[in-house]
Amino acid sequence: MHLEVTHLYKQFPTARGSITALKDINLHVEDGEFVCAVGASGSGKSTLLRLIAGLEMPTAGEVRVDGVLVTGPGADRGMVFQNYTLYPWMTVADNVGFGLKLQGVSKQQRREQVSYYLDVVGLTKFADVLPKQLSGGMKQRVAIARALASRPKILLMDEPFGALDVQTKETMQQFLLQLWQRTNISILMITHDVEEAVFLAQRLYVLSAHPGTVEREIVINLPLERDHQIRRQPAFQHYREEVLDLLRSKPAEPIDSLLIL
Ligand SMILES: Nc1ncnc2c1ncn2[C@@H]1O[C@H](COP(=O)(O)OP(=O)(O)O)[C@@H](O)[C@H]1O
Ligand SMILES: [Mg+2]
Repeated sequence: MHLEVTHLYKQFPTARGSITALKDINLHVEDGEFVCAVGASGSGKSTLLRLIAGLEMPTAGEVRVDGVLVTGPGADRGMVFQNYTLYPWMTVADNVGFGLKLQGVSKQQRREQVSYYLDVVGLTKFADVLPKQLSGGMKQRVAIARALASRPKILLMDEPFGALDVQTKETMQQFLLQLWQRTNISILMITHDVEEAVFLAQRLYVLSAHPGTVEREIVINLPLERDHQIRRQPAFQHYREEVLDLLRSKPAEPIDSLLIL
């Protein structure tokens, strides 16, 4: 799997003229790589992911998966969003199998794939319950299982742990790292959480806002096997400060626009 984003621009028309949400974004994700893009709110993170997912079309530039131009959504890219997007009236198993059903996968094969991925996310025992009976972290594990069930080449994650409390968030980050190592899937995650990005990524892109653009690319030279102890290491702190300094140098909102409020 190879994801390539080249000279990507996105403008949105508004009543007061057009907003440039993304300006000349260039990035790539290699096979089996875990890449994060980190930026303040308004830096165009969700827009970027929606363009890669094919949910929206770029104003200029292109997105390619294994050399093929993205012109719409496809099973090669699995999405996980911040807000729980499970269907509340469907059981956990039905939620995980829903995409497969749409793809016309047979009932028998669906059952096998659903039970496999429920096992991967450790929710086998919860197959028949409704989402409302699950905690936030468990709901996101269902969403991850649902995304994986269609066997995508890459997992696109838009602040998937943004709504979780700190402890659950750390558990989920550790879980995602293990899942990534076991499945060898490529992951592109976007987040505003600098520590999360440094903890998870092999490589990360720092985005600045207004317009959203890539400020710097940083290779995270930390061991692949990571646990939360690593946050205390000087190397980790160094990466964290480097990213924070970049984000500080370009405030997300101009001060005068804040003064109007
Ligand atoms: N559909 C849209 N119409 C108009 N402006 C939009 C739309 N979607 C996003 N934007 C603008 O694009 C910028 C980036 O938004 P977004 O991608 O949501 O950033 P982030 O996810 O980093 O917070 C913001 O200024 C936002 O207001
Ligand atoms: Mg967003």
